[in-house]
Amino acid sequence: MVRVVRATPVEIETAVQALRDGELVAFPTETVYGLGANARNPAAVRKIFEAKGRPTTHPVIVHLDNPRFLHHWVRDVPGPAARLAERFWPGPLTMVLPRAANVHDILTGGQDTVAVRVPAHQMAQQLLTAFGGGIAAPSANRYGRLSPTRAEHVREELGEAVRIVLDGGECQIGLESTIIAFEGQEVRLLRPGAVSAAQIREVVGGLLVGAHLESPRVPGSTPSHYSPQTPMSIVPSGQIDTQAATSSEGGRRVAVLAQRLPLKAHKYVTWVNAGRRPEQYGHDLYANLRTLDKAACQQILVQDVPPDERWDAIRDRLTHAASGNIDIDTTGAMAVLP
Ligand code: TXA
Ligand code: MG
Repeated sequence: MVRVVRATPVEIETAVQALRDGELVAFPTETVYGLGANARNPAAVRKIFEAKGRPTTHPVIVHLDNPRFLHHWVRDVPGPAARLAERFWPGPLTMVLPRAANVHDILTGGQDTVAVRVPAHQMAQQLLTAFGGGIAAPSANRYGRLSPTRAEHVREELGEAVRIVLDGGECQIGLESTIIAFEGQEVRLLRPGAVSAAQIREVVGGLLVGAHLESPRVPGSTPSHYSPQTPMSIVPSGQIDTQAATSSEGGRRVAVLAQRLPLKAHKYVTWVNAGRRPEQYGHDLYANLRTLDKAACQQILVQDVPPDERWDAIRDRLTHAASGNIDIDTTGAMAVLP
């Protein structure tokens, strides 16, 4: 069961003071942990990019405690955006909207839009309300790496670069928010998440899917993202056992992330059964990949996930995590991609 933890008033006061002083504060949300800074202080937001090693062309999300503050950040709220806010906020939905004139370039990567989200997590809400302003926050991991879903993951990722980590236990969802953008009358899904494409369609009618790949600013459009350090490949679902056996021949240590137990015991294989339920699988995904990354294996094999929409966010993260390293052809031979 997920722990829902309230921060003590002293913890919140310390975090708020740090934000006012231009320092960084990591905090839990229902999706993943965020690395926060005062969104009105460009020098503070710059520290986020330094701590993560993230290029400043990648814009960050502004977190608010209440949709009523949207007009402080956004100059125009299209009808569909207002309806989505009504339906899904607070919650795991981020909307990319035309930015207000006083929103700093460092938040937007110089674009004319700003990404905004109202998180539902109790501790994030407490922090935002006590701070009384917007908090800019990407996921609290090093650039391109696995997102943190526990306070100790933030420590592993960022060490001393972040002085305050509010500990809210495990994130309930475990995958980053759904991101949508508005283009004239159209609504586009940029990143799948817990708010599904079907749920968005119910509110807005049509939905375009997929990022404009020419934009470097769109989530995961860089070759590899959400990645473990161990080379990772996705294996067709029915071939995971044979692939694990082939890859571990000669005593190579191999890690497997599957949706079931192995058909037979494999020597040299560390096998994690993440189950067949997408909510649980998603909740555990980053923690599982972190564990397998530390298992001293030469390769992580991931059993491909089912094609239905409930697995969209998971498939998206797995595809990015696996891109740019090793490709497996179905004969079991491996090729390192250029
Ligand atoms: O669940 C989440 O969204 C978490 C929690 C902490 O809220 N945050 C998160 O932030 O995942 P980040 O920075 O890791 O991912 C946000 C993505 C980035 O890949 C960025 O490219 C995209 O949102 N983004 C931000 N502003 C944008 C904009 N104006 N236009 C297009 N994409 C934008
Ligand atoms: Mg991220």
